[in-house]
Amino acid sequence: MAVRTVLRMGNPILRQVAEPVLHFNSKPLDALVTDMFDTMAQQNGAGLAAPQIGESVRLVVFGVGENPRYPEAEVVPVTVLINPEIEVIGDEVVGGWEGCLSVPGMRGLVYRPERIRYSGYDQTGQRIEREVDGFHARVVQHECDHLDGILYPQRLKDLRYFGFEDELFNNSDD
Ligand code: NI
Repeated sequence: MAVRTVLRMGNPILRQVAEPVLHFNSKPLDALVTDMFDTMAQQNGAGLAAPQIGESVRLVVFGVGENPRYPEAEVVPVTVLINPEIEVIGDEVVGGWEGCLSVPGMRGLVYRPERIRYSGYDQTGQRIEREVDGFHARVVQHECDHLDGILYPQRLKDLRYFGFEDELFNNSDD
């Protein structure tokens, strides 16, 4: 289908609370999902939320096989997740470096719950329910934040750990 333009931080669509998807199994929905995977693949992203390509609906895609942007990341199944809900399990919170296609070239250290249960639907209306932790849990939380108009820089606790990727990781100093 098509690689779409990814909106960058500052675009007002990225601040909106996205609308639920009401109709499954539709050609426009399938086309949107295809465009999202095409766009994510072209950018080597781990995930993408529909608002990032200008569609303010509650739909995210994610999945990580071998990803050059996240060489040490565990594999996350390729997933279409619509109208998602997230429930935190336990009280463990962990820090991890995040990037975002809407904040190109930057990384920040974000603290999030380690373990979650999430649910939602795929584009055919099939129910999805999973309990996950680690990188998988982080990706889902990051993508679902987009649906509530939240970008990861809003979650940073310490701006010293926010910066340009090549500066952060090519210098040995802390
Ligand atoms: Ni993002």
